[in-house]
Amino acid sequence: MTKNNDIINSWERNAALWTTVVREGAIPSRAAGTDQAIIAAVKALRPRHILDIGCGEGWLVRHLADDLGCEAAGTDGSAALIESAQAAHQGGTYMLQTYETLAAQPGQLGGPYDAVICNFSLLGRDIAPILAAAMRSLAPDGTLLIQTLHPSAASGEAAYADGWRNETFASFTSGDWVPMPWYFRTFGSWFAVFKAVDLVVTAVDEPINQASGKPLSVIFHCTAKDPREWDDVKQR
Ligand SMILES: C[S@@+](CC[C@H](N)C(=O)[O-])C[C@H]1O[C@@H](n2cnc3c(N)ncnc32)[C@H](O)[C@@H]1O
Repeated sequence: MTKNNDIINSWERNAALWTTVVREGAIPSRAAGTDQAIIAAVKALRPRHILDIGCGEGWLVRHLADDLGCEAAGTDGSAALIESAQAAHQGGTYMLQTYETLAAQPGQLGGPYDAVICNFSLLGRDIAPILAAAMRSLAPDGTLLIQTLHPSAASGEAAYADGWRNETFASFTSGDWVPMPWYFRTFGSWFAVFKAVDLVVTAVDEPINQASGKPLSVIFHCTAKDPREWDDVKQR
């Protein structure tokens, strides 16, 4: 079993519990601001077509379709979560696809989309292939928004260095959660991946927890390299 399989397997087995905690608003960081932060970032783009990669039980797709009236689709590697998303949003488009399949056949993502979102859904070590696939599905002036754990806040007691960690979901006091491996990366490591797939970071948001004054997360706003820059590169 690879770590990626372990990640998907844990989401499949945690799907019912996850759906409940998301829909009951029981994740403190989300209530404290990360949900509103990603909604605001997407809304500012005024998108007509959006795609949520790693959409889980689909809350963001539902919200954006209702709020913005845009065409919103989601994709996820957990059959149980896709089922849950579809059941809650009959008219929505939800696709069961793993990042590994999408990396091999990026056309399966559809598009072009004005905004592609990864909301706490890039959990593995080798994320360059899914990022490359995501960029291919973007409209030329589209934006990829990635919300993830803030590296300085998520490092915790461990060393500030890339590496696999284990999420036990211990903060949820009830439920038989299956632990999930996830890959911690430093700010520098995130930017190295962006560079490797020719992604340009145009803005970085750091939503703050008003109660503690600490960052809740980070949101990277990414675009494809300006095509004019490619001409410039060729001429050199
Ligand atoms: C923390 S949940 C976030 C779900 C959703 N974006 C949200 O905001 O509630 C991470 C999601 O990423 C999906 N995911 C992680 N790795 C994946 C992979 N390799 N292929 C497909 N989906 C994956 C999981 O199935 C899960 O639904």
